[in-house]
Amino acid sequence: MKRIAVLTSGGDAPGMNAAIRAVVRAGVYYEKEVFGVYEGYEGLIAGNFVKLKVRSVNNILHRGGTFLKSARSEEFRTPEGRKKAIKQLKKKEIDGLVVVGGDGTFTGAMKLSEESGIPIIGIPGTIDNDLAGTDYTLGFDTATNTVAHAIDQIRDTALSHNRLFFIEVMGRNSGAIAVRSGIAGGAVATLIPEKDMSTEALIKKLDKGGKRGKTSSLVVVAEAGSPGRTYTLADDVKKSRPEFDVKVTVLGHLQRGGSPSCFDRVLASRLGVAAIEGLIDGKKDVMAGIENDAVTYTTFKHAIETPKPVEEEAFRV
Ligand code: F6P
Repeated sequence: MKRIAVLTSGGDAPGMNAAIRAVVRAGVYYEKEVFGVYEGYEGLIAGNFVKLKVRSVNNILHRGGTFLKSARSEEFRTPEGRKKAIKQLKKKEIDGLVVVGGDGTFTGAMKLSEESGIPIIGIPGTIDNDLAGTDYTLGFDTATNTVAHAIDQIRDTALSHNRLFFIEVMGRNSGAIAVRSGIAGGAVATLIPEKDMSTEALIKKLDKGGKRGKTSSLVVVAEAGSPGRTYTLADDVKKSRPEFDVKVTVLGHLQRGGSPSCFDRVLASRLGVAAIEGLIDGKKDVMAGIENDAVTYTTFKHAIETPKPVEEEAFRV
């Protein structure tokens, strides 16, 4: 293995830059040539490669987003699109690829490696923490910190105006961000797709707080595959309890940006090294992850298809 390429794909996540940096530095350490691919699979199709040296990844460890840029490529989903990508990889004589992203990225990687024979290793990069085979994905820690801070800010207004705030957080179909930030933000209730809670049960909870003299409340709501769903929920509550001063804040993309936390920087650095060492060891079609503080490699199939259960104990807390 002489030439390794790295790309970031899907939704950006804090820590992606730190992962690219680690891939480049580890690659150079093992005397490999490393290439970056701009704009994920779109850039692979277009042949948008750049040679990366240690100096190319200077001062990016602490930056949010991804300097290689990202994309959700429609063309790459087609066999014709992937054929173009394979042609570019062969032209550049790439014999190993590292992809940083989430389930969509790994689904594409599985097909690409099958059709090209080029070994691919994945680094879990998504704020959603919805991949099996790693305790944490890159960006989850930073995103939950961002949400916790946002909740603190909203709490000031909730308290000052005796309001009930619904705060919607990302996570696609996972309630992981909601559970973590719900605890950290002191939410009265956390609504996640993995655990049903009816509007009636929620109102009962809110009434109980009211009887105890609670004048303001924060409810964290996971987007659960329907961003903006919280507006309907808030309307339903308002219909039953018109006396409540109800407000909705959808945090949206502010959760994806920002400087990665210390945890995410370390995770990214460890996984970047693990990806390079995995390729050198002859591993392929696997995602590097960290479980119980040790590096593990899990097949893409397992990482994507195995449901990652919500943290039961954390939810109970
Ligand atoms: O997968 C990361 C994520 O931020 C999800 O939490 C969210 O549902 C989705 O991406 C939003 O995607 P986009 O930025 O393409 O709208």
